[in-house]
Amino acid sequence: MRLKKLVIGNTSVKNNVLMAPMAGYTDYAFRSMVTELGAGITYTELVSAKGLIYGGKNNSALLYCGGDYENTVAQIFGSEEYFMRAACESEYLKNFNIIDINMGCPVPKVFKNGDGSALLSDIKKAERLVRECVKSGKNITVKIRIGLKKGDDIATEFSKMAEDSGAKAITIHGRVREDYYSGEPNFSAIERAKSAVSIPVIANGGIFTEKDAADMMDKTGADGVMLARGGIANPFLFSSLTGTKTDYTLKSFMTEHLLRMQKLRGDMTAVEFRKFVPYYLKGKIGVKDIKAAINSSCSVEEIVDLIAKL
Ligand SMILES: Cc1cc2nc3c(=O)[nH]c(=O)nc-3n(C[C@H](O)[C@H](O)[C@H](O)COP(=O)(O)O)c2cc1C
Repeated sequence: MRLKKLVIGNTSVKNNVLMAPMAGYTDYAFRSMVTELGAGITYTELVSAKGLIYGGKNNSALLYCGGDYENTVAQIFGSEEYFMRAACESEYLKNFNIIDINMGCPVPKVFKNGDGSALLSDIKKAERLVRECVKSGKNITVKIRIGLKKGDDIATEFSKMAEDSGAKAITIHGRVREDYYSGEPNFSAIERAKSAVSIPVIANGGIFTEKDAADMMDKTGADGVMLARGGIANPFLFSSLTGTKTDYTLKSFMTEHLLRMQKLRGDMTAVEFRKFVPYYLKGKIGVKDIKAAINSSCSVEEIVDLIAKL
């Protein structure tokens, strides 16, 4: 994996191994953990632009980054120019240097509203959104899929549009909406897009090992990689890919993550933490009983003890 710095608009990013936005997972507790392991930047989960304007009650929690604006990108979604620009200019996003526009979310609730990946079928509308957000003066980036249906490849066209409209980087998830999260990413679609633009291109999809990251870089020529499920299943990929030294073991990482979640969320921590456990313990032998016990526990203290027994 070719490690390098990234320049996104007027912002310098310390390396090109990024942690993806993941709804329900990438809160500050998790983001701060992988930042310690070397992640170049991390993304908040998608936050509704309209919600930011109407003052949705979770906004502050979703965007909380402990003041670490240098390493955090805020991701927004929506399809109305007014709300998207207003969100970029809102108090909530005032301190973020980089704002990413979600054009990849496949979830029906989002898609039916014309948001997320629905924008991939309307490049003119997508262009208007990017141009309007750019007017906020923020470094705007875009995250896309390569289309909606099998065989689609809009990556080059959208990357050019994003660059021409003033976006400062583009992330390409090399799958179509129909794929959701399965199948091999389309490396050549990312490669074609990369050779058509000068802004940084970040490649995403199916990176679970160091070899996957190296292959992604080699096959696409991208400027960087974005880990999503692989970053949760093996957060230590960040340290190995970036050469960051760490004293964490899996057990101490899990415990610290749980305690940071507790600080952030209080009561709901144990229940929320459980969804990480299948990722953390995937493929580990002899952990079945402990996994089951964690899954039925509602107590942080109990889970800390169970992790110690792993
Ligand atoms: C549970 C889950 C939540 C996600 N939430 C977001 C999100 O909020 N914003 C976004 O742009 N992509 C989101 N994604 C997509 C990921 O960022 C990434 O593009 C996708 O998982 C492909 O990468 P992977 O194959 O390495 O997992 C999500 C994916 C998953 C599995």
